[in-house]
Amino acid sequence: MRAIVQDVYGPPEVLRLEEIERPVPGPGEVLLRVHAAGLDQGVWHLMTGTPYALRAAGFGLRAPGQRVRGMDVAGRVEAVGAGVTRFRRGDEVYGTCAGSFAEYACAKEDGLAPRPARLTPEEAAVVAISGSTALQALRAGRLTPGQRVLVIGAAGGVGTYAVQLAKALGAGHVTGVCSTPKTELVRSLGADEVVDYTREDPTDVVHPYDLVLDIGGNRPLRRLRRALAPRGTLIIVGGETDGRWIGGHDRQLRALLLSPFTRHRLRGLVVTPRPEDLRALGEFIESGALTPVVDRTYPLPEVPDAIRRLREGHVRGKIAIRVQEIVSAVSVR
Ligand SMILES: NC(=O)c1ccc[n+]([C@@H]2O[C@H](COP(=O)([O-])OP(=O)(O)OC[C@H]3O[C@@H](n4cnc5c(N)ncnc54)[C@H](OP(=O)(O)O)[C@@H]3O)[C@@H](O)[C@H]2O)c1
Repeated sequence: MRAIVQDVYGPPEVLRLEEIERPVPGPGEVLLRVHAAGLDQGVWHLMTGTPYALRAAGFGLRAPGQRVRGMDVAGRVEAVGAGVTRFRRGDEVYGTCAGSFAEYACAKEDGLAPRPARLTPEEAAVVAISGSTALQALRAGRLTPGQRVLVIGAAGGVGTYAVQLAKALGAGHVTGVCSTPKTELVRSLGADEVVDYTREDPTDVVHPYDLVLDIGGNRPLRRLRRALAPRGTLIIVGGETDGRWIGGHDRQLRALLLSPFTRHRLRGLVVTPRPEDLRALGEFIESGALTPVVDRTYPLPEVPDAIRRLREGHVRGKIAIRVQEIVSAVSVR
């Protein structure tokens, strides 16, 4: 099968399109024929091996342990391993797997859910990681109906889900923060108010927020806290930095240490893919409350270009990778 592989950490130039062996599903795993894959900042981190803390966390000290990149996936179950009960050959699914930038990939049964019928494979392939992150951030923020929410980084992969989910979960007022060219997009997602951070400081607020999701921009904690109501919650999701050792995680650590000494709740987030979250996201999608925003779709050989575009910061929502066309039962015969 064709796959995008790498043998050393580095920039997109280390990636190659190669013919490799098709993987074999182990116990509790399924083999997927991959229709589409999703791209997110995590792919860049695993490709470059930065921040270095990630290497120590088990991804490979000197070289990537897993040669094929990509985690977000949409595809069809081709075969099932021992003990798999929830899926069978032919099911259309989405979720996370090991190495989705390939024509076939193995996924744990628990990492998958049925693909929402409303979505194309490209749309379904960009949901799992960013959508779960947004959902888990709103839950960690204990969002309750009627609350005021500020989403910083609202036009990106996680932010486009966070704005829609905050509204779907009953937030009374959602403000999305983004740069000038993306303001219309954020409004179209249902934001009640949009702040262009190139013209205004989003933390200079008249009406403070019950919940702030910090997804882009790396503002210092003291600035972010200016936007919070007296008992408000700040969830630090991420933000790209040049920090080679722990990346942007220093703010998450400082938030955790400071939190017991303030009336604000300050938390970091580490997303954990969970089957129940995939099902919840699927229900929001089927109800029409949540729609993935696909900026652009690239064919498999152009993954390096897709990663470059993501890092340039122009993406609105998500980038999808088209891997294999859906072959219908009719055309197989
Ligand atoms: N904690 C976790 O488990 C977890 C999970 C997933 C992702 N993350 C991290 O979360 C971050 C965001 O991920 P993503 O997939 O949403 O990335 P993304 O698609 O690149 O989006 C980031 C957004 O931040 C905006 N931004 C950049 N500078 C900003 C500023 N100064 N103020 C406000 N917004 C700004 C960018 O667009 P504009 O500037 O044009 O508006 C962009 O839309 C990344 O660092 C990622 O690694 C963490």
